[in-house]
Amino acid sequence: MNALAATSRNFKQAAKLLGLDSKLEKSLLIPFREIKVECTIPKDDGTLASFVGFRVQHDNARGPMKGGIRYHHEVDPDEVNALAQLMTWKTAVANIPYGGAKGGIGCSPGELSISELERLTRVFTQKLHDCIGIHTDVPAPDMGTNSQTMAWILDEYSKFHGYSPAVVTGKPVDLGGSLGRDAATGRGVLFATEALLAEYGKSTSDQRFVIQGFGNVGSWAAQLISEAGGKVIAVSDVTGAVKNCNGLDIPKLVEHSMENRGVKGFSGGDALDPKLLLTEDCDVLVPAALGGVIKRENANDIRAKFIIEAANHPTDPEADEILSKKGVLILPDIFANSGGVTVSYFEWVQRVLNRRAPHGFRTFFAGFVRSSNRLNPQLSSLVYYRPHLQSLAATQEYPRVHVG
Ligand SMILES: NC(=O)c1ccc[n+]([C@@H]2O[C@H](COP(=O)([O-])OP(=O)(O)OC[C@H]3O[C@@H](n4cnc5c(N)ncnc54)[C@H](O)[C@@H]3O)[C@@H](O)[C@H]2O)c1
Repeated sequence: MNALAATSRNFKQAAKLLGLDSKLEKSLLIPFREIKVECTIPKDDGTLASFVGFRVQHDNARGPMKGGIRYHHEVDPDEVNALAQLMTWKTAVANIPYGGAKGGIGCSPGELSISELERLTRVFTQKLHDCIGIHTDVPAPDMGTNSQTMAWILDEYSKFHGYSPAVVTGKPVDLGGSLGRDAATGRGVLFATEALLAEYGKSTSDQRFVIQGFGNVGSWAAQLISEAGGKVIAVSDVTGAVKNCNGLDIPKLVEHSMENRGVKGFSGGDALDPKLLLTEDCDVLVPAALGGVIKRENANDIRAKFIIEAANHPTDPEADEILSKKGVLILPDIFANSGGVTVSYFEWVQRVLNRRAPHGFRTFFAGFVRSSNRLNPQLSSLVYYRPHLQSLAATQEYPRVHVG
């Protein structure tokens, strides 16, 4: 199912449970603004290459719009629209005073040199700079982008608007980034997993994990889960998949992956067909790569008891229904991967005020983990969407992180 159709279907279901006015429902589904830009750059060999970039600003009722920028060949307007919508719900779930946005460029970052990526990012920023801003729309990294990408955006944006370190989050620490932002989404995945398992009398250390994706989110989640005693028995990325029933040595896999640009060929496990990864026998499945990977066609074969949605919209609504009937518990993306935007908020507050925020991430995160009634499937949709809807009525009242 198309990403936008899937996220809209989930939202409509929540709206129905809430008894939401149909006009308000329609207004919340239509994005605030959609931007599409052409980005042409000279390649290293002197030839020209053209790419299409997007930024969808979904909603700013709760604060400046916030969302990552993705570089991937499958980036299209519908996908960016769906991801922007998810950001609106995610920042509401985390109770952070932000709205939702998302951007991306349809490109294959692995096929571009560093200098080509820099030129592409700078051209994209030139086309977009009037629409983003500290109090308007604050980008961050997502698939295919990282702190270096944010540094280029910050530098290019500052040429037009003066030094503006708060215009992006997820930037290098030396440029005003936040310690721990790199690991934050993976750390949030661990905290959310621990909280979920505790509800069922289980702990990370007695579970077997399978993780799809070994980039920023997947590799940090794997490292932190394994440090907490969890057994990560299989991992995949775009290069392949590896499996070890006794548990993969994650620090060694990280080293191998950095040296070889992927998990393929890791000697500490057996090669596995990546197509079979999601249906491997395990307790907890953590999709941390692309959207729409768990669908009607493979849902019945999933053997995990828990699915932690570290990626955005990895589960199609049709698969959701099949898995619910099978008794599989799914922790939704807008909750499970909200650690990244939470620490992005800390970073943004520090740069807007030019001070350090002392608030502990775990304390902040644990607060909303406890406050949500996420484990009741009927109530969960209400819980996820209600904060945003409530704040539409009272946009001024939201808790802020205390900055010392
Ligand atoms: N980076 C963040 O802070 C953040 C925050 C919230 C959500 N997310 C979501 O988490 C997911 C991963 O983001 P990331 O930042 O880790 O991206 P990344 O680019 O750092 O890593 C992506 C990983 O997915 C793998 N991958 C790509 N295609 C694959 C395929 N077909 N099968 C298996 N693996 C594949 C890549 O090889 C890589 O290991 C995305 O859905 C993103 O939107 C990221």
